Amino acid sequence: MKISGVILAAGKGTRMKSSLPKVLQPVLGKAMISYAQSAIKNLDNKYVILGYESETVSDHIFEGYKIVEQKEQLGTGHAVVTLLDSDEFKSDNCDYLIVTPGDVPLIDKSEIDKLIGAVTKNNSALGLITAEVQNPSGYGRIVRNKEYAKKIVEEADASEKEKSINEINSGIYCVSKDFLISNINTIKSDNAQNEFYLTDLIEIAFQNKQDAVIVQVIEDTIKGVNSMSQLNDVEDTLKEKLITSHMENGVYFQDPSTTYIDETVKIHSGTKIFANCHLTGNTEIQENCEIGPNSLINDSKIGEGSKVLYSVVDGSEIESNGKIGPYAHLRTGSSLGDNVKVGAFAETKNSKISKDSKVPHLAYVGDAELEEGVNFSAGAITVNYDGKEKHKTEIKKGAFVGSDAMLVAPVTIGEGAMVGAGSVITKDVPAKSLGIERNQQKNIDGYMDRKKSSKDKK
Ligand code: UD1
Ligand code: MG
Repeated sequence: MKISGVILAAGKGTRMKSSLPKVLQPVLGKAMISYAQSAIKNLDNKYVILGYESETVSDHIFEGYKIVEQKEQLGTGHAVVTLLDSDEFKSDNCDYLIVTPGDVPLIDKSEIDKLIGAVTKNNSALGLITAEVQNPSGYGRIVRNKEYAKKIVEEADASEKEKSINEINSGIYCVSKDFLISNINTIKSDNAQNEFYLTDLIEIAFQNKQDAVIVQVIEDTIKGVNSMSQLNDVEDTLKEKLITSHMENGVYFQDPSTTYIDETVKIHSGTKIFANCHLTGNTEIQENCEIGPNSLINDSKIGEGSKVLYSVVDGSEIESNGKIGPYAHLRTGSSLGDNVKVGAFAETKNSKISKDSKVPHLAYVGDAELEEGVNFSAGAITVNYDGKEKHKTEIKKGAFVGSDAMLVAPVTIGEGAMVGAGSVITKDVPAKSLGIERNQQKNIDGYMDRKKSSKDKK
């Protein structure tokens, strides 16, 4: 049995009131359309119908999916006609076609397999996935004839009685290719929206005495996204599932309701995620870390046993036992070795900070390389930018940079050297030397007493 699949994704998504094509709206960090693609990835031939901003959307289409353009979006029925008429589909000798919308991201392969099983068991002409829901508004309602579907009525066309039906259409169908080819052109657009509704196929089947098989699933799996509030609802449902699966793998969450995690994030067992954390992009958090409360980690790798407290880590890598924060900002290209501390109000960028080094407070380390065991004290900064170009600072093994020092790059602080507090360093400091740049301190004897007595006289 050969089964092909098509994703309908040509619409703009007008009800989203967003200029971004609906199927590109991110759902836990991934474009909405990627979920439908994953759900049908095992089918024989796969197609995607694109229309609105097809060029932008096509960048998100996986390899192995053929794109068919629907120039005018005249309805879901018309989208399928466009597929059947396309050169791409001409040589397809499938027995059945799975049709799924691009805006139902929670569906997964197992439900589609159930549908295929139910339809192919008795060589039925078609079948569809439905669910009983609390609030059916906006969805097509299933009018039943005992166990089979008789027709689907869209909200806009439904009578009050039909609106009270709470079994809804998922928009996911399995249809025999022969049935489709013989009947798709009989679909008309004489309805409230003047569109060619794919849902009309059910009534056509019923009139031809063909059974439209129903596979009922739970509401969560077929939630559709037509508005921003439905997008939020779908994301919440998916997030809950995702956090549960992380918990099953031994990750602790203090407050899942305030935690946001992208699908793409990996978290290893023994790690604790405290309240108000955002973990996004290509992030990996290794074993036994403590993240948060209140931290944002994006596209970063956090090594085993690290702690990140009230901090932002973006595009960076931390090896084991890092101590970050509170209130640290690791910007793109920060690479920290084992046991490195970047503490309160410190910022790093495009810098390598090696094993056992410390940037404990109020510092800026940019375009720098700190070797092992460096101490970069409070208020010290690398002056990496001359207004035109960025320059590099090198600080060799075991060097000590005193508080409030300005290291004007390019500059090198030698191994074991010390930079005196408050110095503006413009020349290299040799190994084991003290680099100091300050005026001599003057102490004025008896000054405070004299000041007091002159006040008293007034
Ligand atoms: C559709 C169903 C409805 C079902 C709901 C499930 C119809 C007529 N209605 O309604 O019964 O309950 O999905 O979520 O099918 N598209 C195209 N070309 C077009 C029109 C739409 O590719 O010409 C695509 C859209 O981009 C979208 C999908 O088809 O991904 C569904 O279209 P949408 O407008 O969201 O239909 P609903 O009103 O949600
Ligand atoms: Mg929809």
